[in-house]
Amino acid sequence: MASRLFATKPIKSIMAEAAGEGEQTLKRALGPINLVTLGIGAIIGAGIFVLTGTAAAQFAGPAIVISYIIAGIGCVFAGLCYAEFASMLPIAGSAYTYGYATMGELVAWIIGWALVLEYAFGAATVAVGWSGFVASLLGFFGTRLPFNPTPQISMVLFGHPLHAQVDIFALSALIIITAILVVGVRESANFTSAAVMIKVAVVLIFIGLALAFAFGHWQHMLTNWHPFIPKNTGHFGQYGWSGIMRGAGVVFFAYIGFDAVSTAAQEARNPQKDMPFGILGSLILCTILYIFVAGMLTGLKPYTTLNVAAPVADGAAAIGVRWGVLLIDVGAIAGLASVMLVMLLGQTRVLYTMSKDGLLWEWVGKLHPRFCTPWLITIVMGMFAAFLAAFFPITLLGELVSLGTLLAFTIVCLGVWVMRAKQPDVPRPFRTPWVPIVPICGMLVSVALMVSLDAPAWIGFGSWLIVGQIIYFVYSRKHSKVQRALAAEAAKAAR
Ligand code: ALA
Repeated sequence: MASRLFATKPIKSIMAEAAGEGEQTLKRALGPINLVTLGIGAIIGAGIFVLTGTAAAQFAGPAIVISYIIAGIGCVFAGLCYAEFASMLPIAGSAYTYGYATMGELVAWIIGWALVLEYAFGAATVAVGWSGFVASLLGFFGTRLPFNPTPQISMVLFGHPLHAQVDIFALSALIIITAILVVGVRESANFTSAAVMIKVAVVLIFIGLALAFAFGHWQHMLTNWHPFIPKNTGHFGQYGWSGIMRGAGVVFFAYIGFDAVSTAAQEARNPQKDMPFGILGSLILCTILYIFVAGMLTGLKPYTTLNVAAPVADGAAAIGVRWGVLLIDVGAIAGLASVMLVMLLGQTRVLYTMSKDGLLWEWVGKLHPRFCTPWLITIVMGMFAAFLAAFFPITLLGELVSLGTLLAFTIVCLGVWVMRAKQPDVPRPFRTPWVPIVPICGMLVSVALMVSLDAPAWIGFGSWLIVGQIIYFVYSRKHSKVQRALAAEAAKAAR
């Protein structure tokens, strides 16, 4: 019986599902540019606009550029592994399905559950950050609201009093985005494209202005870049090389999201070719932009002054651009809105696939008759994210997101290696280079980053996994289609 826990889903049946058409299947509406846009939509967000400054000030100094390069390289290893799987198994389940095909049902369930953590908690984290930028924008125009946007509410749950600050902006953002997601993947992609255009324009304007300034003020920039790697204070993580590593752990958040492209595989017109393009294209473009922003920002202002709420806006102000705050607020508002959208989109697609496999209730995978989107679970998860945004601190949410993501990365990297050994002949439209070196490097970087995260996040993560295991053993195992097929085969053989 134990071996059934590790029953794998046959590649043939995954391919048949991916090729499926008809009323209860997702629409193939996305081309290569839509996929890159979706990736950038999920990647550029609070990380670059906020964490660059805080991590430079506290951990790495100007060498935050090296932290960005290290975290970027780690993500490229994982991205290459995602690209192989997404082109080979173009189905909405992403890492969950890859785990199912290679390491079996229990591992697949754990990854699926970790992805729920990444995307739902990710959307909640970003919603709270988004609300901060909206408040800043209103402040810029001196707008006074006729109501309190963060009222306190209290309730009693199982005899325990519970107090929360309900963030009305965060809540409204999640409700509007949930509505867009219900209406359709094309509408969602159009919304993302508009948001991506705005945020990329803002990042490019910042880089352009900073470069123009740098050409006339090289001495100013060089002074701020010196020392490039500030001397370690004697404590691990406070500058020096250990600070660069800690900085890499923090700015990893800025890269999260490229993996969400793979959840759109079943909605891509030509997934074999376009999935690797979407995943790697968006990741590489963002890495280049991040390195420029981090380099310019630490040249414009001494790193010791960057531990503030809007460091990139301060950088723009240092160039003499008084509307820097406005520019960054607009970029961040557009940027974070698309991050929320792509995360919630990815979330529902993973749950949809788990439901089709019988591991979750049937209603989870039900598509809307007109919009062809998994509308019920979209609404439930949108509300769940809104609840999280209201009740949990943003730092804990952010670290939980990183843990869930890194676990998925580790298993996807291992999966590529296992699959090459177990099924070397399956056609792979995209092949990860240098297997097993690239997957091993991907796993090492992911595990190293996981270890650098705090104890409370690990406790939250452990509790989340335990809840997942309870659902698996109480419901999923008994309803799994793969388990049922195996049981039927065993019964036939016994006859
Ligand atoms: N990468 C996304 C961000 O920085 C999660 O907001």
